Parts: sequence; C-alpha cells; structure tokens
Amino acid sequence: MHDIEHSLADFYFPDGPDPLEPPPEFATWMRDGAWAESLYEPRLLTSVGPTGRVQRGGSVHDVVNLSSYNYLGLATHPEVTRAAVEALQERGTGACGSPLLSGMADLHETLQERLATFTGREDAMLFNSGFAGGMGTLAGLLRKGDVAVLDAKCHLCLVDGAKLSRAKLVFFDHNDPESLDAALSQTDGKRRLVVLEGVYSMDGDTADLPALLPVIERHRVGVFIDEAHSILVYGETGRGVIEHYGVADRVALQFATFSKAFSSIGGFVAGPRPLLHYLRYYSNAYGFSCALPPAVVAGVIKALEVATRDSELRDRLWSNTRYFRAQARGLGLNLGDSTSQVIPIIVGSDRTALYEMCLEMNEKGLFLAPVDYPSVPEDSLRYRVAITAAHTREQLDRALNIIEDTVVRRQR
Ligand SMILES: Cc1ncc(COP(=O)(O)O)c(C=O)c1O
Repeated sequence: MHDIEHSLADFYFPDGPDPLEPPPEFATWMRDGAWAESLYEPRLLTSVGPTGRVQRGGSVHDVVNLSSYNYLGLATHPEVTRAAVEALQERGTGACGSPLLSGMADLHETLQERLATFTGREDAMLFNSGFAGGMGTLAGLLRKGDVAVLDAKCHLCLVDGAKLSRAKLVFFDHNDPESLDAALSQTDGKRRLVVLEGVYSMDGDTADLPALLPVIERHRVGVFIDEAHSILVYGETGRGVIEHYGVADRVALQFATFSKAFSSIGGFVAGPRPLLHYLRYYSNAYGFSCALPPAVVAGVIKALEVATRDSELRDRLWSNTRYFRAQARGLGLNLGDSTSQVIPIIVGSDRTALYEMCLEMNEKGLFLAPVDYPSVPEDSLRYRVAITAAHTREQLDRALNIIEDTVVRRQR
C-alpha cells in the first residue's frame, strides 16, 4: 500500500501560468494513490436504502449502508415514489424554465405554501439544490460593506455565498458565545447577518442556540440557520433545532435542503414575505436557474406529508440513533461531540489507515465514506455515519461488528 503524503489542500494553488492546466503533481498523486481514489465516487448499484450493493474500483459488495442521508427512509417510501411517478407521467421530466419566467408550476406553489405552513413562516421559496439555495440566499441578501458572521464549522455553500456577495467574512469559534460576541463587537455599525447550522454536517452536534441567541439579540443582529441535517429530524413536529430549542420566533430565516430527510434534491428558505419577495429578484441562483422538476416537487410534497402526519419515522430514527451511539461508545470509539443521527467516527491523523480501513470495511460489507482534510482538521480524519429510520437492529449490529473488527481492532 502507498503512503498518502498529500491531501487535496496541497493542490489548491497550482504553480502553472494557465488555469486550464491542472498541476501535474495532482495527476501523479492521484495515480499513485489509485487504490485510495477508488474510495471516492463509489458506484451505488441499488437504491439508497439501509442495505445495498456498491461497486468500488473493480469489485462489487453487498453492504450495510451507513453513508446515505436518507434519514427517515423516504427515498423508497411507496407513497412518495408513487406521487413522483404520477407527476412524472402527468407533467413530464422537467420544469424547463427558471421560476421567475416560466418554470413555476402549481405544484411548486403548493409546496411553497405547505413549507410556509409547516415552518410557521409567511412564505417559503424553493431552490433547485441545497448548495445553490444556501449560497444563493446569502449572495442575494448581503452586499459589499456588509459582514457575514459565520460559525467556523459552517458548510461551504454558506462560505461561498458570503464570498460571492463580497461581504466581509468573519468566523467565530464553533458554538462559542464569547467568540461570537467579540466578532459582533468588532463589526459594530455594519449591516450584519449571523449564519448558523442546525446540525453541523461533519460533527453531528447542534447549534448551541440557547447560548448564542442572547448574544446575537444583545447586538440586535438577524440570524440565518441552515437546517439541512435537522429538518424533519429535530423538534416535536420535525421543524428542526429551532423547534427543539423552542426558539423559532427568534430566528429570522430558516433554510433547509430536500437532499437529506426528504430524500430528494433541492432546498428552501422560509421567512417573512417581504424579504422573500425581495430575494426572489436578487438571488441569482433562484432567478437564473431552472426550477425543480415536477416529479421532484410532487415527491417532496408527499415526503413532507408522510414525515409530519405522525412521529413514527422520527421516533424510529432516534431510537436507532440512541442504540448505535451507545453501542459505538461501548466499543471505545471517538464519536466527537455528536448528539444527532450524524455520528463521526474519528480515527486521528493517519490518512493511510483511514483509507485502508475504509476499503477493508467495504470488503466486509459496510459502506462508509472517508472524510479527509481539508474537509475536517488534519488530526481528526473520520468516517461519518448516517443513521436512518429504515435500518434494522440486525443491520446496525452487522455494521458495528465490522467496525469493531476493523477500526477498533487496529486501535488496540
Ligand atoms: C449544512 C449543509 N448545507 C447545505 C448542503 C448542500 O445541500 P445539497 O447537497 O442538497 O446541495 C449540505 C450538504 O451536505 C449541508 O450539509
């Protein structure tokens, strides 16, 4: 096996004069580490269910899937797939236009209204991807001279959106009210927006809203929260961490994606009607990009209905999450500060071990993805487990046995 000396961070600034010439060392590095590269872009040959078949490199394995964000198991829910199929047959494959000009259908409007009602907001606005939505909302609202105050662990779509807006970016230490206070004190007098996440995607912990909101309110600044991983999962009715902490009315804008618990694609932002009315005309990711396909919208409408008519799926997800966390802790694994269904297994700084163990687990029948620097700090490379309501205890046990037999055995 090769040692993996580099990470993607090493090739961000190419030396050559031409942007169309990628650094030759990048290709060499990729070629030399081809066995590890086979871990990226694995081919799933089945649906994103709790088990499936994965092709990595040349080999195919039946696996327990702990890598798909199908949190409530809705990707293959019969009511959801039927709604999508019917819309596909009745409405065709695409919206074929931007929502502002020609892509908006009655279905899109219905979904917006349902999401506004669900989140308890005046209005909701759809985006054709979660990334585009997070980026497009910040880029649509912030301007040069403004300040985006982001938690240091915010997702790249939020960082990119703030950069695109040409606002100044200020990061505060993750979930640290004192660091936030300092960031807000230093930027006093500017137009500012604090940007948080519901569940942080690499660590699985929640925004510490009870500690952060009093600071934000003292500085009289608005809050945008990205609930990509917490919508339909947290809160008594699935409205996210702002419901979980009972602070929905203290957060101006709630954003979420359809790619996780909704098991689809796209995203939405929900908030006051005049603000979203403005955003529709100033968010280029909305106005200059095609609307979601009707079949996707119909599937999401049904997913919302199924997920919110009772708490059965959410309860099952939490029960599975508690079970897996307790068992994994019992094995002595480092799960960081996760309190959610997103559970990192932190293995340290040995990149070669990270990749070798990932391949080994794949061969033994477990689909886990490696998370490498620079996505996470160099000393805390990890796998990231996504628990779903669809997993059975037997499948979770099988996964835990493989983790014990691979990661734990190596750490002993
Ligand atoms: C917090 C957060 N926001 C936004 C996104 C982007 O969402 P999508 O994958 O739906 O484009 C992700 C994706 O992982 C995420 O974790």
